[in-house]
Amino acid sequence: MAAHPYSPSNLVNRTTMNDSVTLFEVGPRDGLQNEKRLLTVDQKVDLVNALSQTGLTKIETGSFVSPKWIPQMASSNEVFAQISRSPSVIYSALTPNLKGFEAAIASDVDEVAIFAAVSESFSQKNINCSIEESLERFKPVMALAQERQIPVRGYLSCVMGCPYEGNVSAHSVANLSKQLYELGCYEISLGDTIGVGNPRLTKAMLEAVTQDVPVENIAIHCHDTYGRAIANICTALELGVRTIDSSVSGLGGCPYAKGASGNVSTEDVIDLLDSLGLDHGVNLEKIIQVGQGISAQLERANQSRVAKAYSN
Ligand code: HMG
Ligand code: MG
Repeated sequence: MAAHPYSPSNLVNRTTMNDSVTLFEVGPRDGLQNEKRLLTVDQKVDLVNALSQTGLTKIETGSFVSPKWIPQMASSNEVFAQISRSPSVIYSALTPNLKGFEAAIASDVDEVAIFAAVSESFSQKNINCSIEESLERFKPVMALAQERQIPVRGYLSCVMGCPYEGNVSAHSVANLSKQLYELGCYEISLGDTIGVGNPRLTKAMLEAVTQDVPVENIAIHCHDTYGRAIANICTALELGVRTIDSSVSGLGGCPYAKGASGNVSTEDVIDLLDSLGLDHGVNLEKIIQVGQGISAQLERANQSRVAKAYSN
């Protein structure tokens, strides 16, 4: 395997292959981006601040994308300016191109993420370009990120199925993961965007990806459309994945993936990890409180089964 262009050990809190799992909270970004009801900047700031007090160490706080495409994220710069940053939290943002990356730097983000897809149709719908064009677009972002010593995460969407093209091959997922890793992403987050994965697909996909990308540089990002996210995460944990993306109270969806429901809830992942005896450092009661609060503000049902169980 080629030497990795980054030397990220001094830049990011990397997990080692032990019993400790990192929860990557995506609620304020992936969760809110699909909500029709626009929250105020104060409400978003309150959400991020509350999450910062739960023991989470990674919070995706917003995205610097076109406000015409994702209106809810238009105020990400204001959110970054107003949050009370905890020294133990890394605050990250999505950046689809150089313009977004420059805006993210101006907002003093700790980490950014670029995002590509395994399917051409999803790439066109989500970022208005082909997969190949998106990789070209990311190159100047990676160069500037390296110069500024900002860690870059790479998302890959539709790794277990596409809303427009159906099945995708594990080989394509592996090939694109390798390309993102070789571009310099310190971590590849594998997104089951529409929640069509199952444990068997998860295993095949991860076995293919880990041929080229070390498992400690992989995260799993499951949407819970059909209620299989926890089963898929369990499989990923068994295969050594130690970073799990999740969203408080299961907020979320993707505006360019019809039928995509929210991300797996942070509460349910914590409960799974507790039951397996894996450390994560996040306080479940506090997360449940944050989830109840944001669900009430959005006037939507809390999607976390664990939160429901605790409220009975
Ligand atoms: P485009 O229209 O092709 O871009 O959009 P363009 O370069 O032709 O520019 C058009 C206009 O957008 C111009 O403004 C640019 O300045 C502006 P105008 O002259 O018309 O006033 N623009 C921007 N404005 C703010 N920030 C920027 C930016 N770039 C251009 N960064 C673009 C291309 C990528 C910008 C657009 O398609 C876009 O913003 N897409 C983002 C879509 C998105 O955020 N999707 C959700 C996130 S991905 C996801 O949820 C999946 C994930 O969770 C994993 C999973 O579950 O699978 C990560
Ligand atoms: Mg997502």
